[in-house]
Amino acid sequence: MGISLALLGCGAFGSSFIRHWRAHPDVARFALCDHDSARLAAAAREHDVTETYDSLEALVASDIEAVALFSQHWMHAPQAVALLDAGKHVYSAVPAAASLDECDALVRAVERSGRLYMMGETSLFRAECAYCCQRAAAGDFGHLVHFDAEYLHDLDHGLRDVLRNRLGEAFSMSRTGAPPMHYPTHSIGFVMAICAAVDPDVHVTSVSALGTAIPGDDWHRADTDWHNPYGNEIALLELSCGATARIAEMRKVGHPGAERVARVYGTEGTFELGSRGASWCTKSGCEPVEPTLDFAPLPAALAADRGGHGGSHAHLVHEFVSAVRDGRQPRMNVWQAVRTLAPGLVAHESTVQQGRRLPVPDWGSGPGSA
Ligand SMILES: NC(=O)c1ccc[n+]([C@@H]2O[C@H](COP(=O)([O-])OP(=O)(O)OC[C@H]3O[C@@H](n4cnc5c(N)ncnc54)[C@H](O)[C@@H]3O)[C@@H](O)[C@H]2O)c1
Repeated sequence: MGISLALLGCGAFGSSFIRHWRAHPDVARFALCDHDSARLAAAAREHDVTETYDSLEALVASDIEAVALFSQHWMHAPQAVALLDAGKHVYSAVPAAASLDECDALVRAVERSGRLYMMGETSLFRAECAYCCQRAAAGDFGHLVHFDAEYLHDLDHGLRDVLRNRLGEAFSMSRTGAPPMHYPTHSIGFVMAICAAVDPDVHVTSVSALGTAIPGDDWHRADTDWHNPYGNEIALLELSCGATARIAEMRKVGHPGAERVARVYGTEGTFELGSRGASWCTKSGCEPVEPTLDFAPLPAALAADRGGHGGSHAHLVHEFVSAVRDGRQPRMNVWQAVRTLAPGLVAHESTVQQGRRLPVPDWGSGPGSA
């Protein structure tokens, strides 16, 4: 007997996931939800979906068991809390929340409801992340000592249109320039996943960050609602296991774009990823390696078409559906989600305070942890 699941948000990103949810053999009943009636009708027609809802409230009142949220990013936490309190399991596109208070509310809602929550962080299911997780679990790195991870996405690569689309008629230039570190999960996600492969309790304890205000930047400006002039923010994280991590969130950068862990240093081994490929190094030398997507089995219906972001989409869908089906916590559960997000939120505050080192809150590891 499969589960019933609705996807809320038939926009640019959510639409690209419909075929994966539909194809999953353990989704017995699939519905779509959007309050934009034209978008909803178009997506339902294209994907041959007959069950539709026109609001979050209608979904809350329904008997649907699980909801995959693909609404605009600032809506995720309040919508997830409403759905959890209504007894639904929740998958949410990144970021999980927009503030530390929302992180706290999300964790409390999961603890209160006993429902499952997963943040759909794509980096977790990239081939190089899986490769490093496997080598970390096998002890090949020795002690993990330092990470370099980055999300390079220049504004000129579609980001202006993304915000215009998400805000619609509410768009104005005063709404531009959100801090890059408020969207940090594509870089910190690698670090947390690889650490968790060794010790699930590892978390960030403090952060110090600096920003770059680029002359002539028309998007990141002190006079917008965000008061944020920094198009690039670089943070140094201190981890509870003793390691450090450098995180780069760059929106003004001459690069085609990357969401990657560039280097993972251990006392016995090092992983490096550059534009020419990946290498595994030890004290005696480096050799090229080719991380693949064949790290976790997928149902046949999903394996043939894994979708975007390095083929991670199908894996995200399978991770959530199988977690709900089996009643187990997903890897990027709510505690890992806030551990992946909160260091970025605090990093921006550190940037504002010219690099002052600030403590990062932690909500623990969830059920079954020490
Ligand atoms: N790599 C990644 O992980 C990645 C990439 C792109 C986008 N995203 C995330 O995906 C999310 C969606 O992005 P997008 O560009 O598709 O946004 P979008 O604005 O195109 O789509 C959002 C949709 O949600 C609908 N919606 C919002 N609130 C609703 C409600 N209460 N009831 C019914 N429908 C509602 C809107 O009408 C809209 O159609 C964002 O939060 C973004 O952060 C993640």
